[in-house]
Amino acid sequence: MHIDVQPSPRAVAREAARLIADAVADRPSLAIALPTGQTPLPLYRELIVSYAQSKIDFSQVSFFNLDEFVGLGHTHAASYHAFLKHHLLDPLGIRANQIFTIRGDARDSVAEAARYEQAIAKRGGIDIAVLGIGANGHIGFNEPARHLHPRTHLLTLAPATRRANAWLFGDRLRDVPRQAISMGVATILSARGVLLIATGAAKAPIVHRAIQGPVTTSVPASLVQLHPDAIVLLDKAAASRL
Ligand code: F6R
Repeated sequence: MHIDVQPSPRAVAREAARLIADAVADRPSLAIALPTGQTPLPLYRELIVSYAQSKIDFSQVSFFNLDEFVGLGHTHAASYHAFLKHHLLDPLGIRANQIFTIRGDARDSVAEAARYEQAIAKRGGIDIAVLGIGANGHIGFNEPARHLHPRTHLLTLAPATRRANAWLFGDRLRDVPRQAISMGVATILSARGVLLIATGAAKAPIVHRAIQGPVTTSVPASLVQLHPDAIVLLDKAAASRL
């Protein structure tokens, strides 16, 4: 695991964008898994700026989202599909056939999880999994538990995760779905490269546990320690407990 501490969230975003740009330049038909949330927003802005300057050609890249709320269709403003489209994919001009997302409103969530896992396998797996980290140590929506699911699955969100996502629902906690579908830890860790990003002092304690603590299912992000080609990009504040 390579740990890279940058001076600011902006510097983290720039470095992450540079790593992604280099990977796409090396192999234009990459499959990239992306998180939603506050942390990747500066990265997405950076990618849009770089693209506008024609530094990166995304026309052959496939984009997968890591997770999705159950019950929300693609057009729901708080869906992770809509989030990624709005903050990254539309500004980049990504075509529909390059976008692979989970249907939160599928009638059968278990079947939808299996369909998504198959879509990932059909595409040859994920090349780069970009990850955020929840304050409870989750990656994707793999919440701390005694047993983690290896593959894409239906799950119940931790109360803390629902609270952390309330901002997407106008701060109305009751509107935040209780269930989600997420890539599993084996799906994520089967990616050829993993890029975990964390910024801000609030993430410092969990970053410390994930990187310097034991590998444990109580901190799903600690499993990233086992990946042979993982990069952890932190700003100074998130790295302050290391
Ligand atoms: C969401 C996801 C989550 C977030 C994590 C951090 O797609 O995969 O694991 O990355 O909850 O969220 P922020 O960046 O909002 O702190």
